[in-house]
Amino acid sequence: MEHMFFRQRFRNDIMGAEEQVPIMKNKKTTFINFDNAASTPALRPVWHMMEKFLCYYSGVHRGTGYKSMVSSNLYDDVHTIIGNFVKADMDKNVVILVKNTTEAINKLSARLNLKASDVVLTTDMEHNSNDLPWRRFSKIDWVKVDCNGRLDLFDLEMKLKKYYPNVKLLTVTGASNVTGYINDIHHIAALAHGYGSRILVDAAQLAAHRSIDMKPNHDSNHIDFLAFSGHKMYAPFGCGVLIGPRECFANSPPDHVGGGTIKVISYRKISWAELPDKEEAGSPNVLGAFALAEAIKYLEKFGLERIAQYEHDLCNYAYQKIKKIPGIMVYGNMPRLGVISLNLDGFTHSKLGAILGAEGGIGVRTGCFCAQNYVRTLLGISDPVDLSTYEKPNALLPGMVRISLAPYNMPEEVDRFCNLLSRITSNRDYYQQAYIYSPQQEQYVLK
Ligand code: ALA
Repeated sequence: MEHMFFRQRFRNDIMGAEEQVPIMKNKKTTFINFDNAASTPALRPVWHMMEKFLCYYSGVHRGTGYKSMVSSNLYDDVHTIIGNFVKADMDKNVVILVKNTTEAINKLSARLNLKASDVVLTTDMEHNSNDLPWRRFSKIDWVKVDCNGRLDLFDLEMKLKKYYPNVKLLTVTGASNVTGYINDIHHIAALAHGYGSRILVDAAQLAAHRSIDMKPNHDSNHIDFLAFSGHKMYAPFGCGVLIGPRECFANSPPDHVGGGTIKVISYRKISWAELPDKEEAGSPNVLGAFALAEAIKYLEKFGLERIAQYEHDLCNYAYQKIKKIPGIMVYGNMPRLGVISLNLDGFTHSKLGAILGAEGGIGVRTGCFCAQNYVRTLLGISDPVDLSTYEKPNALLPGMVRISLAPYNMPEEVDRFCNLLSRITSNRDYYQQAYIYSPQQEQYVLK
């Protein structure tokens, strides 16, 4: 009962939670958003605060007058609110505002002054954004996952030993966007530190669902660098975060240069601005930053522990129910975040996604979720030698259907999803023939 009140309060604050969308036979239904891992909807209280703030909005750090002062102060405060949210020691660390997690990781990869002989360890679980940036500056290796898709800590330690003392960074997801597995980031941090490496946690999937504690900088469990995105935590207004030790950014030029990054400039010399200004080139995304801080306040008010408990129970309910449907393959076990990837025997992921949308008004994500290596591993497909066989539309590549839950999702929505899956399995021939691939749209459509 308590769960129900909690969820309903959250749901009432979600913009578009009760939106009617068109489905088959000219009918309409309430949209089910099961794609929160891609991007969460916006919170109405955040939107209201943005409207209020817009009346005072003005240039930050560059203007005079009351409005510029208000905007500058609010923008500066956002850094502290974010730092406190993840318990970063703000004397020793800096919060840098960027566009999203991808930009945060790209920035860090460019700012670590890596040499070709340095090693960055990433893992087989990662999103492309925590793999591709690291291929540019140093040697990279991938920590394996075990047969269930969980991070193999034995392999991690073997690789830390193998490359010691050249591992400059271990970069790992806080939680997988494919299986929802949550990594024990503090244990992993201690392992990395034991071999002289720092750790970056990609918290894109974690930050809105579990409380994060970066811990004091001297603690062996300390998270050195953390990155996450506002658009995955109910503030889809283009602001993301990179947090790390001040000394990493203080003594070398920024990767992006321009307005706001300098104290003094002459034709031959530059004196860089203080942190974080030096790392936030150009006019900042004040509204996006403000929205992220408001979303954080909202999540803190609700309580991350309560959010985690609700999501865990809902995910467990969904997991047990989905697994019982004949022909369904679910990847990975519990416990996990509210992320469940699956396939239905005989149906391409993209065809199933099209049916769920058109027949049930259910939004999911299909394909590889920007984590092709991990998805192929889970599907038992070996690493392709010739990429050209894979150079086709996403809808035709091997993949999965993913549902991802949030505190405003309801067991009734899980029931609707499962009922539709059962209907599809009982009428396989009809659904197989009714939905065909459209090369023009590069997706499955109703015939
Ligand atoms: N990384 C996001 C997802 O998994 C975009 O959908």
